[in-house]
Amino acid sequence: MVNTERFIQQAVSEIRELTGDARVVMALSGGVDSSVCAALAAQAIGERLEPIYVDTGLMRKGETERIRQLFGHLNLRIVDAADEFLDALAGVSDPEAKRKIIGERFIRVFEREAEKTGATVLLQGTIYPDRIESEGGIKSHHNVGGMPLGIAFTQVLEPLRDLYKDEVRDVAGALGLPREIQHRMPFPGPGLAVRIIGDVTREKVAVIREANAIAEEELVEEFRPWQCLAALVGLGTGVKGDIRLHGWIVAVRAVNSRDGMTADPLEVPYPVLFKIASRITAEIPSVARVVYDVTPKPPATIEYE
Ligand code: XMP
Repeated sequence: MVNTERFIQQAVSEIRELTGDARVVMALSGGVDSSVCAALAAQAIGERLEPIYVDTGLMRKGETERIRQLFGHLNLRIVDAADEFLDALAGVSDPEAKRKIIGERFIRVFEREAEKTGATVLLQGTIYPDRIESEGGIKSHHNVGGMPLGIAFTQVLEPLRDLYKDEVRDVAGALGLPREIQHRMPFPGPGLAVRIIGDVTREKVAVIREANAIAEEELVEEFRPWQCLAALVGLGTGVKGDIRLHGWIVAVRAVNSRDGMTADPLEVPYPVLFKIASRITAEIPSVARVVYDVTPKPPATIEYE
């Protein structure tokens, strides 16, 4: 991207021209991509933008309240679809099948909501690396490969399609979005589902939501990683009190990256790792073991699925 201001002007006029007088629906996750997309569209078409936040039941701790605070001034609709997503995922362990189910659910929720308002255009915050990874067959990002096209929408617009993450952050700054949004860590569209290896249950989601909150509390402020996370990687033996028990194994990961295409693990000081492990095992009784992942990407991806 050559020039941030020029990009903003072009994107705003593109959205205005392409949408005509149609109502436009978009998924606002609260991440930097969708927030920038919403801000551009709000400039372009004002009240005709219908941002929808879907609570998939796979979001981070406190996310729904945060969204309400940040975007309550827009025409925002908050949809509680947690049961719908979690029921659809029940018993499904294959990573691609999970992504497809989530992508499809998203679209169904949009369609339903759009029907209520007569929106015919779908706006998405897809960025360049999402397209590359989907087209390269690495995995289907929920907002590209997982989406069954040919639905009720007459158009799908992706104004950020050629941008890298750091460019999106520059645009966020130029648009005057809060710093908290501009520097927010990426969070995958399929949410905590890709931080649970194998099938997704309500119990696993509750465990990994809490573990992610702890990892973020201990790492974000102090180390400003590009991304950090906790993933549920299996079951193992542990001992609590004097009882041997089967408990969850949680992997903590913190990486630096430019655009998510490659990543280097953060050298987190041992006392911090020790504190994270102590907190996770103490605050989440069903966790028996915590490990820290030191694998770069490649060969490992940032997420666990
Ligand atoms: P991976 O795990 O492929 O992740 O190294 C690279 C970056 O992309 C995010 N990610 C996703 N984002 N839908 C998204 O919107 C997805 O399906 C998805 N999978 C991974 C990941 O969090 C990291 O920032």
